[in-house]
Amino acid sequence: MQTHEIVRRFTEHFVKAGHTSVPSASLILDDPNLLFVNAGMVQFKPYFLGDVPAPYPRATSIQKCVRTGDIDEVGRTTRHNTFFQMAGNFSFGDYFKAGAIEHAWNLVTGDLASGGFGFDPDRIWVTVYQDDDEAIALWKKIAGLPEERIQRRGGKDNYWDMGVPGPGGPCSEIYYDRGPEYGREGGPEADEDRYLEIWNLVFMQDERGELSPKLGHPPVGTLPSKNIDTGMGVERVAYLLQGVANVYETDLVRPVIAQAEALSGRRYGASPEDDTRFRVIADHARSGVMIIGDGVTPSNEGRGYVLRRLLRRIVRSARLLGVTQPVLRAFAEVVRDEMSPTYPELVTDFERISAVVEAEEEAFLSTLTAGSRIFDSAVAETKKAGGLVLPGDRAFQLHDTYGFPIDLTLEMAAEQGLEVDQDRFTALMQEQRSRAKADAASRKVGHGDASVYRAVLDNHGITEFLGYTDLAAEGTIVGLLVDGQPVPAAPEGSSVEVVLNRTPFYAEAGGQQADTGELRSGSFTIRVDDVQSPVAGLRVHRGVVTNGTATVDSPVVAEIDVARRASISRAHTGTHLVHAGVRGALGTSAAQAGSLNAPGRLRFDFTSPSGAVTPTQLAEVEGEINAVLQQNREVEAYETSMDEAKRLGAMMLFGEKYGDRVRVVDMGDYSRELCGGTHVGRTGEIGLIKVLSEGSIGSGVRRVEALVGLDAFDHMSKEHLLVSQLAEQLKAKPEDLPERINGLVERLRDAERDLEKHRAEAVLASAGTLAEQAEDLDGVSVVAVEAPAGLGGNDLRNLASDVRGRLGSKPGVVALFSTDGAKVAFVVATTAAARDKGLAAGTLIPAFAPAVGGRGGGKPDLAQGGGTDPSGVGAAIQKLREAVRG
Ligand code: ALA
Repeated sequence: MQTHEIVRRFTEHFVKAGHTSVPSASLILDDPNLLFVNAGMVQFKPYFLGDVPAPYPRATSIQKCVRTGDIDEVGRTTRHNTFFQMAGNFSFGDYFKAGAIEHAWNLVTGDLASGGFGFDPDRIWVTVYQDDDEAIALWKKIAGLPEERIQRRGGKDNYWDMGVPGPGGPCSEIYYDRGPEYGREGGPEADEDRYLEIWNLVFMQDERGELSPKLGHPPVGTLPSKNIDTGMGVERVAYLLQGVANVYETDLVRPVIAQAEALSGRRYGASPEDDTRFRVIADHARSGVMIIGDGVTPSNEGRGYVLRRLLRRIVRSARLLGVTQPVLRAFAEVVRDEMSPTYPELVTDFERISAVVEAEEEAFLSTLTAGSRIFDSAVAETKKAGGLVLPGDRAFQLHDTYGFPIDLTLEMAAEQGLEVDQDRFTALMQEQRSRAKADAASRKVGHGDASVYRAVLDNHGITEFLGYTDLAAEGTIVGLLVDGQPVPAAPEGSSVEVVLNRTPFYAEAGGQQADTGELRSGSFTIRVDDVQSPVAGLRVHRGVVTNGTATVDSPVVAEIDVARRASISRAHTGTHLVHAGVRGALGTSAAQAGSLNAPGRLRFDFTSPSGAVTPTQLAEVEGEINAVLQQNREVEAYETSMDEAKRLGAMMLFGEKYGDRVRVVDMGDYSRELCGGTHVGRTGEIGLIKVLSEGSIGSGVRRVEALVGLDAFDHMSKEHLLVSQLAEQLKAKPEDLPERINGLVERLRDAERDLEKHRAEAVLASAGTLAEQAEDLDGVSVVAVEAPAGLGGNDLRNLASDVRGRLGSKPGVVALFSTDGAKVAFVVATTAAARDKGLAAGTLIPAFAPAVGGRGGGKPDLAQGGGTDPSGVGAAIQKLREAVRG
């Protein structure tokens, strides 16, 4: 059975049973605890927690998932995968254990003709959480499973949570016995290779805190209702139903290996080393393409770094298979063809996806070249020192800075007859990992805090947002927190968090900064400095009680800083215009990657796999969007269905989660985006948009910064003033300034060249005078004098050579000193006849250098040095004379 058919049957089975079919969420949902979505339930988390009422009692989805915990194991085994699809059914306070077991059993064992998977019921085993007698009874009753094929297991195996605080619960897993050729008798408890887990039913009822019930820690709470979360491994079911040995042989994965076989001319199954490489390529190509599809670009941190590793491991594996030409695009095409029936956006976005992989491959190939140089010099050093082991530090440097996987370093070292100090390498990697972990932990959002906000939400409902239309409004304080704890009252001077039942204040979101302003009652005032939404639906005003005592339940007038809001709205509408303009100029591969809408200024980040936007393109975009301002288009905001928004071609952010009803902001046909932010009423209100800069902020991601409104005007008028001042100083018209400045720079360069020439001539001109000062010391002509001050080593050497030339063929020694502030430079030159007498420049230096507090050295004919004590020049000259005599 083809994978697409498995997915289709799964969805149909649950839709028939009253479930709403929900599309896969993006791999990068906005959860600070998760790098990538790793289970079907992630997008439903707020429903399980009760943060938001579930829009349907039952749902089903096929969720794309990425788990990157053991990238290094992928390929070495046939079991590890970074990408997989999880088919799930979910109940939000609707059916519970009995329903979950019945639905799963019917699909797993239902016969093929009637839409089931047709697994032999006699080969099914299940596990349950240690004391879950209820589940055992249900498995017997509903499925007729005999006692001996139901096993109890502990929390490690049969308790499920996301690995982070959030919903969780005991679970029951369904296994299929692949037969004695795959391992020992005895059920999943004995052998999880032979007994393969295909489906996990989680009885989602607990709230997990920092520590997991998996390890015996009690849950921190009970969820508002009893829920079901299940996950069936689509790929596992596929390889069982396709009668192949593992996921790499299935219909959707094998074609990537086939492509690698075609490119390399080698065969999968011929050698264990090559097989590992084939599998790395197949797995990583799938996850890489899917991750890029959801808007991630390669970078050096977070998701971008994981992606970079995946892509580089593919390129590297292909090289080890003997392929030297670029490969990523070819693999991406296969993934697109195999996966697009389920994920059609892989086709529409392919231009962008392939541009990203091609840019990364090119970057990596040049990294390989640079890293190879470092590697070569490390090898040379090791060999020169007579060593046989490349230091672990160098291997780590290659890994860390040049992205060399250790196996690459190992193999290249082996080619050179060297080993690598792997223990040291591993220790350094371990250190780095702990650093990264500590870093990630410190960024986690404390779950304890969120539960306080959730309590407010539970008791008082969501905060009604009035700020699209109202700038001031009356509301009531329904939550008052000091230091994260609810309080009845807060005196003057307290830092507080305030939740209102309704507010005009915008909470920071979608790049738009929060409103500031005041909350006033007859008896107190709170200054609001920030507004955040720590749980969906709630708006938390943060600020200080500036007079009186704030009390909970008080009515207040909430009033935002209107000028600031207007300025932010101008920036936000401006960002939409920049987005539309950039896309118009670069095409759809330019996708928004981030933005900032602050008072008077904006930042717009976008992926541009094709590189920089040219200055001409940028000027055109700027001109175009300013023309749109002048057209004074109406900026309309309206709610509609997601389907309608898609039909209208509204731009949406990758990775953003949208509900069924979405808000669209459009400016006629020029720009149409999903957006929850605030905007101007007509484009003319923006006045002016001035682009300040455009540049790279990471591989394939560019940033445009711009000013809007009066801030743009102020900036331009300052620049205008500056130009006028320059024009006046240079006595030129503004438009002639570039040429005038070019002329000046050129003349300056010529003048400097002349000056240098004259100085060198002047130095050499003194050679004659110096040579005349030669004195005879025991048959050696010695010129030991202080030359003009301020000569550098070069000048001094030239001068010494010139003077030596004037001494003819007699034995001669020239020693020149030149002081420059607190420094002394010196040079000694000897004639051939002097050297014949044993007078070598290099060995004369130590005789006098200490007198000027310095040292130096060189060859027998010419040596030089420097010192720090100009007052010793006389003494040094004396020492030199003595040395010549001696
Ligand atoms: N959320 C459960 C899992 O990932 C179904 O296994």
